[in-house]
Parts: sequence; C-alpha cells; structure tokens
Amino acid sequence: MRTYFIAGNWKMNLSPKAGAELATAIKEKNTSSKVEIVVCPPALTIASVVASLKGSSIGVGVQNMYTESSGAFTGEVSAEMVQEAGAGYVILGHSERREYFGETDAFINKKTKKALAVGLTPIPCVGEVLAQRKEGKHIEVVSNQVKALIDGISKEEISKVVIAYEPVWAIGTGETASPEQAQEMHAVIRGILTDAYGSDTAEQVRILYGGSMKPENADELLAKKDVDGGLIGGASLKADSFLAIVNAAEKLS
Ligand code: 13P
Repeated sequence: MRTYFIAGNWKMNLSPKAGAELATAIKEKNTSSKVEIVVCPPALTIASVVASLKGSSIGVGVQNMYTESSGAFTGEVSAEMVQEAGAGYVILGHSERREYFGETDAFINKKTKKALAVGLTPIPCVGEVLAQRKEGKHIEVVSNQVKALIDGISKEEISKVVIAYEPVWAIGTGETASPEQAQEMHAVIRGILTDAYGSDTAEQVRILYGGSMKPENADELLAKKDVDGGLIGGASLKADSFLAIVNAAEKLS
C-alpha cells in the first residue's frame, strides 16, 4: 500500500519569520503518524522552516531549482544547495512556472533527473488548461506531459518520483476536479507508468491531486484508488486547514 503524501505549496507567501510560525504550528498540532507530510516554502524561507521543524518527521521542499550544480546562472538555486539547506523535496514544472517562466517538458525532465541524481524527491507537476479540457484533449495533453517527464528515467528512479496532477482550471479558482475526474486522470497516468515500467513499479509511484483541495473535499478525492495525496496551495497556508487534509489522509491509511 502506498503511503499518503500531503504537501503544502506555499507559493510566494510567508517570509522567513511568518513561515517559521506556520511550520511551528503545524509541528505542534500534527497528530498523524502514517502520512508523509511536506511543506514547500519560498527558497528564502527554507532555513527558518527547517530550523522550526527540527526533530519532527515533517519534510521540507522547495518550489523550483536549476539543472546545474553551480555557475553563472543569476537568480537560480541548485539541487545541491537545496539539499545542504536541509530540504529533501522539490516541486518541479508547476503550471505557474510553465505559464509565467516558460518552462518546457524537456526542461522539467532534465530538472527531475538532476533532483534524483542528488537524492532529492522530485514532485513534477502535469495538468491541462481549461480550453484543452473543453476540447476533450485533456487526456492527450497530460499523457504527453507524463511521457516527456519520464523520458530516460529508470525503473529504480521512478518509484522515488511523486507526480502531481494539477488541472490548471482548478488551481486557486475554488473549482475542484470531481473525484471521478481526478481518478480518471490518475489512472491514465498510472497506465503510462505501467506501460513503461511494469505494474509492480507503477503501483509504487504516488500520484497527487492538486487544485483547490481543502478540508471539505479532501476525503472524497483521497478515497479514490489512484489518488495518493494532495499538493495543496491556499489551504496549506493555515495550520488547521492543512492538518485537516492530513487527517483525512490519516483516516484512510
Ligand atoms: P490551490 O490549492 O490554491 O488551488 O493551489 C493548488 C496548487 O497549485 C498547488 O501546487
């Protein structure tokens, strides 16, 4: 059985001080023991959050990194730096990075390989925009993203990857994919992994849903067979709402 994985993507919110406060509140109020919990603050907030979470099993991730280890890449951070700062996870290719920073499938694939090489757990994101869903192309679009994402990634490595399906039309809009829509796409993603790696390996990969997941809808989404957790935006910015989602996963564990 796959361990539920609940990650908070804080996006560009919470300074080092505010982030430390939220991390401390999450650590103190958390009662779950079966869920893998991760918070992903902005890069500058990593150090204070790592310090606040010391001694707890809650992991820390960043929201992006570059493909190279060091060098003349102004404004970027490397996987090695992320790791030394105490973070073990990295969100890659979030739709906001695809949209505002021009990230491509090939670039996200390269970053995923770099994260794996350094020992970070990559959380690459895929998802269709509203027009693609309306045109009935959502399965094709996401399938192509997943195939590009896993290109050249070995059977041993893929089980360490946590894939997030985030339909772009559900992010920050209050509109959630129905549990059936989420399950349908998660099954498609697992099918691609099965074709590429065999079912034993595909069954080990966690596939998260992201897009307006909140305490009110987490249970029914997480109850679906191929929904192994959530990548939470807005609802991860308050300890109570984030932990209510963690608790929904704990109950299903
Ligand atoms: P919301 O939960 O705010 O819709 O954001 C989802 C998301 O983009 C997580 O990465």
